[in-house]
Amino acid sequence: MFRAKRYLVTSALPYANGPLHIGHLAGAYIPADIYVRFLRLCGKDVVYVGGSDEHGAAITIKALKENSQPKDIVDKYHEEFKEAFKQMNISFDIYHRTSEKIHHETSQEFFRELYSKGEFQEIESEQYFDTEANQFLADRYIKGTCPKCSYEDAYGDQCENCGSSLSPTELINPTSTLSGSEPIKRKTKHWYLSLDKYEDWLREWIETGQLDGKEHHNPEHWKNHVLGQCKSWLDGGLQPRSMTRDLDWGVDVPSEIPGSQGKKLYVWMDAPIGYISATKQWAVDNNKDWEPYWKDEDTALIHFIGKDNIVFHCLTFPAILKAHGDFILPQNVPANQFLNLEGRKISTSKNWAVWVNEYLKDMEGKEDELRYHMIKIMPEKRDSEFTWKGFQESVNNELVNNLANFTNRVIVLTSKYYDGVVPAFDENQGISSCHDKDELSFHDSEMISLFDGLAEMGDHVRKFDFRGAMNAFMTVSSNGNQFLQFNEPWKAKDEDPELVKVVMNVGLQYVVALSIACRPFLPKTSDKLRRILNLEPLKEEGEWTKMMDTLAEGEEQLIANGHKIGEPEHLFSRIEDTVIQEQIDKLMATSKTDTETNSPIKNTIQFDDFMKLDIRTATITSAEAHPNADKLLKLSVDLGFETRTIVSGIAQHFDPADIVGKKISIIANLAPRKIRGIESNGMILMAEDDKGHLAFVSPENGMMNGAVVR
Ligand code: MF3
Ligand code: ZN
Repeated sequence: MFRAKRYLVTSALPYANGPLHIGHLAGAYIPADIYVRFLRLCGKDVVYVGGSDEHGAAITIKALKENSQPKDIVDKYHEEFKEAFKQMNISFDIYHRTSEKIHHETSQEFFRELYSKGEFQEIESEQYFDTEANQFLADRYIKGTCPKCSYEDAYGDQCENCGSSLSPTELINPTSTLSGSEPIKRKTKHWYLSLDKYEDWLREWIETGQLDGKEHHNPEHWKNHVLGQCKSWLDGGLQPRSMTRDLDWGVDVPSEIPGSQGKKLYVWMDAPIGYISATKQWAVDNNKDWEPYWKDEDTALIHFIGKDNIVFHCLTFPAILKAHGDFILPQNVPANQFLNLEGRKISTSKNWAVWVNEYLKDMEGKEDELRYHMIKIMPEKRDSEFTWKGFQESVNNELVNNLANFTNRVIVLTSKYYDGVVPAFDENQGISSCHDKDELSFHDSEMISLFDGLAEMGDHVRKFDFRGAMNAFMTVSSNGNQFLQFNEPWKAKDEDPELVKVVMNVGLQYVVALSIACRPFLPKTSDKLRRILNLEPLKEEGEWTKMMDTLAEGEEQLIANGHKIGEPEHLFSRIEDTVIQEQIDKLMATSKTDTETNSPIKNTIQFDDFMKLDIRTATITSAEAHPNADKLLKLSVDLGFETRTIVSGIAQHFDPADIVGKKISIIANLAPRKIRGIESNGMILMAEDDKGHLAFVSPENGMMNGAVVR
């Protein structure tokens, strides 16, 4: 079993090209923050680094669009991010940026080292070039149809729909995102990292957890969807990948290297090295040594990211670290899937998002409410959905009715009955009637239940199951609430004052435990509860461990008899319908439709082009989930003269059971393609409206199967 002596935890460096939305928070920041706060509460040595990713086409394209300079763009968003993370209480030990000198030096040092070790192949090849913009088109400078899933807006380096990593030459119908024109090909020379050389080594590391013959991590602790993505890339075979670009914004290829003129590091080479530069800067600022965090085998390196970053953190960056030598590899990469919003994909260009800075303004003071709901719906295993109604229900039904209600009752009754002083009680008082641990005293048996509930929460956090962890936490709170309800101190107060002292003392122990246990999820609430209890705010220095030890030993209390608590205060307040409606209205009013953004009429084609398509009517005869992809359905369609298998990306829009028997139209002469392991023979025609809803293009009643559409 691997036991970490220290932890280096990272959250993906967001591109400084647009504001943060809730999808970012749910993907890489809140989960990491829960994890590091919990580690600190356990007294662990942990450094949590983050920063802005300020290079790459994401930035320069934005600058071009806004008619400004990359530097101005990154400065603006870097400051915004820093502020938003601070307000959301994401507890980075350092929030750095890749435009810093220390980062340029660190990434150049990596490049030099790999270069001098002969890790690069210099390859001259034909690449797409935009003659209008006078620039080579790599990565986000070029768009086209994904060869793997047919998504039409795939970038030159990656398809955001299916996650495949691509190269521009694989795109079908490529166009320049700079000018919209069709690119030509031109020769250029770049340095390629031979990922193929690392394929077996990576496979062994990922699939067996063995690193150079030694046990490194337990692959069973990795998420299935992360392992699945890695396996499918490895099975597809890794290709050498260019680590440089023809650009004028980014980290320079070191000038002593022949041919470096005009060449920059590929952003996915420099950005992850940003984690290392950030750690270096943190060490300088805090008079510490950075190296143990990146080089000692007893350090656990954990990367929190969204699923679109899996290939870079599980394959490319580990290969770079390995090629350099001396560096450790991640223990785990607990990537999250995507968060949708009110039935649609979050989209910056369509302004379909909840922007963090706007939320913070509109919902002032409700940071923990947002954290709470985001954790509750966190896309840990599959894509999930944020709705404003769901947010309101979480706050009103759970935070207000459960957590705030319970803690408030305990505090108010303690003030009322004992003038705010924690009551001492008779150890032998009362027998618990809601637990049958009758050999124990009432108080002790309640403390054991409390311990068990907390232990369960801790187990979930350690497994990166934060939804489960917060659920366990809320169960502790509702157990406390039920305990109070069951014992009805307000009724027993006069008849059995001694029993009521035990009940209230138990209640107070619970509230103290909650003030510690809520910390990873709701840091601000923790401070507030501690203030109400008149206890020191947490420093996140081993308080969890201390609490669990105290409960396990059963000698001392979490809050001492005779301690005077503070004044009652409302922990959370209800969110009214009107507030929620305003947010929904705002989203609808400010979002843009597909037609306004993504779907202008395509270029003119000739009649002959149309005649090449063979469109036919058909009926869906069976539908089932694709075994390897949650967006895809495997359909059988009856064409009258034959039955075909077609794989279609509509799983998130339709229930298989509902579409059997549907009359549809298909393109019947599309070349067969294997989609995630299943051969698809044709394509279903679908209409998509401006809200992203899909509908089949169906012939009117009674039309036979196999009829020609023209
Ligand atoms: N900027 C990238 C994105 O937003 C993430 C970079 S993560 C790092 O998708 F590892 F490269 F830093
Ligand atoms: Zn794709």
